[in-house]
Amino acid sequence: MDVFVTRRIPEKGIQMIKDAGHNVIINNSDIPLTHEEIIEKVQKVDGLICILDDPIDKEVINAGKKLQIISNYAVGYNNIDVEEATKKEIIVTNTPGVLTDATADLTWALIMSITRRLIEGKECIRNGEFIGWGAMLLLGTELRGKKLGIIGAGRIGQAVTKRALGFGMKIIYYSRTANKEIEQMGAELKDLDELIQEADIISLHIPLTPETNKLITRERIAQMKKTAYLINTSRGQVIDEEALIEALEKKEIRGAALDVFEKEPEVPQKMLELSNIVITPHIGSATEETRTKMSEMVAENIIASFSNQQPPNRVN
Ligand code: NAP
Ligand code: GLV
Ligand code: GLV
Repeated sequence: MDVFVTRRIPEKGIQMIKDAGHNVIINNSDIPLTHEEIIEKVQKVDGLICILDDPIDKEVINAGKKLQIISNYAVGYNNIDVEEATKKEIIVTNTPGVLTDATADLTWALIMSITRRLIEGKECIRNGEFIGWGAMLLLGTELRGKKLGIIGAGRIGQAVTKRALGFGMKIIYYSRTANKEIEQMGAELKDLDELIQEADIISLHIPLTPETNKLITRERIAQMKKTAYLINTSRGQVIDEEALIEALEKKEIRGAALDVFEKEPEVPQKMLELSNIVITPHIGSATEETRTKMSEMVAENIIASFSNQQPPNRVN
């Protein structure tokens, strides 16, 4: 069987597919392929390994005449037209679980960076403004006793909650359904608007779906406390990005920390200029350990489906 991989990924999984006797063709670069290039490559292969910003739409799926499986190198699969793949009896898989800790850790790195003003700290030193210990220098926000609002109480939302207990935070959460695991850690279910009004830090952990697209509207940002922070490691499109930038410019909230953006890889210039924002280039799962496990997982899904077994991480 032939597999096409749209981007460079850790070698481990590629080797597993080869060891299982299959042929692997790789776009061995970090430059995204165009839609046309993906369409051309998918025509002759039985399996596709793709990345979260490859749009695997109707056209790509229809071009894949022999395609049996689309194995996404990500847990989020909003880049794939799953309905169309299902119609064509193509299996779609993702990489849940192995990236939960890495993404929860990055979420905490963002929370700490924005509340304790780490990036501003480097700027201060760079600009020669560190002239001695200052009782009033770069004062941030203490976490103990503050309310963390988790939106989306799944794997990552729960892992972020677990870490929050160590910081002595109170946890409130919103999810479509009440979640036993998060409640066992002391989290209290709220409706979305209540959570937005009460939380000192709001952290987003929902998948991007038609329902969650722009869930954080201008009106909801306006309801946040003036001292609150918004953290996003889910998908950029769940926030009205323009409204968030305006709120940060007018200091209507205290800060934001984002790993994901509405039109990646484009990041609005204004975000680079604001001091009350921390941004990272979608690196939630970017540890050597996790990215290697993800490559094993995409391979396991491909190998299982080629031997007519149920792939472990099928989503359709
Ligand atoms: P998960 O375990 O499926 O959790 C998602 C949670 O969101 C579920 O608890 C789900 O609960 C809830 N949810 C779904 N639709 C909702 C809605 N309309 N309103 C409220 N809650 C809703 O997924 P995960 O593994 O934690 O990953 C979450 C997302 O993080 C992924 O989809 C991906 O987009 C993103 N991610 C980003 C990075 C990064 O690099 N920054 C890395 C990994 C993942 P109910 O269905 O019960 O409501
Ligand atoms: C990363 O964003 C993922 O969904 O795995
Ligand atoms: C600060 O460095 C302190 O000793 O309080």
